[in-house]
Amino acid sequence: MRRQVFRDPALQENFRCTGYNQLPLISAEMIQKIKHEMATMRPTDGFNPVGEATGDVMNRVTYHCSFIDQNKEYKRQVLNMVKGVFQPYVDQFLADFRILNANFYIKQAHRGHFPIHQNWPVLRDMSDTTVTIWCPLQNTTAINGTLHIVPGSHKITPHVEAVTLPPYFANIKDELVDSWLEPLDVPAGDAVIFDDGLIHWTSHNDSDEVRIAIQILCIPRDTTPIFYFHDPENDPERIEIVEADEEFYLNYHITDLLVRQPEWKSLGFEPNNNKLVSSREFHRMIANGERARLGLFA
Ligand SMILES: [Fe+2]
Repeated sequence: MRRQVFRDPALQENFRCTGYNQLPLISAEMIQKIKHEMATMRPTDGFNPVGEATGDVMNRVTYHCSFIDQNKEYKRQVLNMVKGVFQPYVDQFLADFRILNANFYIKQAHRGHFPIHQNWPVLRDMSDTTVTIWCPLQNTTAINGTLHIVPGSHKITPHVEAVTLPPYFANIKDELVDSWLEPLDVPAGDAVIFDDGLIHWTSHNDSDEVRIAIQILCIPRDTTPIFYFHDPENDPERIEIVEADEEFYLNYHITDLLVRQPEWKSLGFEPNNNKLVSSREFHRMIANGERARLGLFA
């Protein structure tokens, strides 16, 4: 698949090499409008979850994420608001993409541990491209939980990360934090638009103020979005492909995704070819990244 992601050739070229672009997107006035609307919303966790970064899937969560909230009406409200504000920018900058899901990611003061990850792939063709728009509503730096990325780490291996499938770099996370992850200084209203395969995380919010960011997953209009379901107990060697459009993310809670739901529409299975890499292998994969991406982008 030779995919054009950004309409602008210079942005497309930078995206191919680094895996992201940072650009000014929404105005200070629009940020105020979004905050006003946010103040009317009523997520179950009150934008302030009580997780302690240990234990089961819910207790690990120390930040608010709309998808993880129990209030489905609230989740729909966020998606509708985000579509209204951001779809024009998606049309302006990206080549025929649409919004699949959207979240507020909110880290209260001195909260917000988040593991290093790749975003879950949502296309069956692992060489095809989806992007995430990450847009903070205040200036963000390494102090208050900005986005950290490993430039050029996109599309260097076809790995399926999922709720029960660890990242391929699970054994070298400390090295990634110490030597590879770079913090991005992102002014309020700027957006980082990155390949969902890029290794990233947002750091702990060590400031005294809340840190609010909007995250938006965008997919090419000509693709069918899917969810990779893996059952480590009963079928560890295979991964099921399940149809998953926007209602999927509105209707299901993250804990629902740990169990095969009978109403899901299966599109078949893929073998579980996931492997964990060593530090040496990772160095080699990054060095060969440009070659690995040859032919994937128009
Ligand atoms: Fe992410």
